[in-house]
Amino acid sequence: MFAYLNGHYLPRSAATIPVDDRGFVFGDGVYEVWRVINGRLFETDRHLARLAFGLGELRIATPPIVHPEKLTEVAERLLAESGLTEGEATLYVEVTRGAAPRAHQFPPSGTAPTVYVTVNRFSPADELRRRGAECITIPDIRWMRCDIKSIQLLPNVMAKQAAAEAGVLDAIMIRDGRVTESSHANVAGVLDEMIRTHPANSLILHGITRAVVIDIAQSLDLRVSEEPIAESDLPSLEELFLVGTTTDVMPVVVLNGKPVGSGAPGPITSRLVTEFRSYLDAACAGVAQTAR
Ligand code: PDD
Repeated sequence: MFAYLNGHYLPRSAATIPVDDRGFVFGDGVYEVWRVINGRLFETDRHLARLAFGLGELRIATPPIVHPEKLTEVAERLLAESGLTEGEATLYVEVTRGAAPRAHQFPPSGTAPTVYVTVNRFSPADELRRRGAECITIPDIRWMRCDIKSIQLLPNVMAKQAAAEAGVLDAIMIRDGRVTESSHANVAGVLDEMIRTHPANSLILHGITRAVVIDIAQSLDLRVSEEPIAESDLPSLEELFLVGTTTDVMPVVVLNGKPVGSGAPGPITSRLVTEFRSYLDAACAGVAQTAR
């Protein structure tokens, strides 16, 4: 696979950063992941807007990659050089505060941010999607700015590892008795035929897939409430699902070893699985979309 690092294109194995990079030393940076189908990025502008927001909140200078034309130019070249212009892929962008001798406060102004972009082949978990996945719950031990897509992902790493050790797909995090999100996806449930998902505040990442799925649900006249699911409501959930760039819409049919609803993907989730996939395919084929 090819990478772009600070203006240069090179094989990923040759892409190196100084050990003083603040991303390496402090996790001082932000990232984005795009879904790519047949060489086309899904929701270019929304992901770029979230990247710009994170950089602004952290007061990291905005590099030229945070612009649709530059991003598209870099993405097209990396996808072409990596043989990923057809089929499924992901694009990863990371921006750190750059390299400087270790000191907690910001480095001298003029320190150039580090910009790293790469692509990966991707296979959606469609077979699991048909059956539905199993998840566990875990305390949400993260900081209070989960709306910033920071590269500091230790609680997410620990949560996903706990899921892997439990032999399940993912861990759903709970803060103060409410479901927030999973290690790398947003979470929604169905209660009294109403889709419920945590509001887009500082306690969750404002997922692009979450926003698209809410728009699709509303266009289908499904009822949506951005009110968190209480932990005490989990046993009464009719349906539960994850949404994210590398997750799409994924039914969760077993939680903490107990069936959710009927224990099979429910009607609302199944509809959203199908509608989201059509939307994604059409958007990446350049067909105008109407859900928004
Ligand atoms: N993760 N919540 C968290 C904590 C995430 O890390 C992600 C995405 C999402 C879903 O957001 P979106 O729909 O914009 O992808 C929610 C990416 C894919 C990752 O870390 O690999």
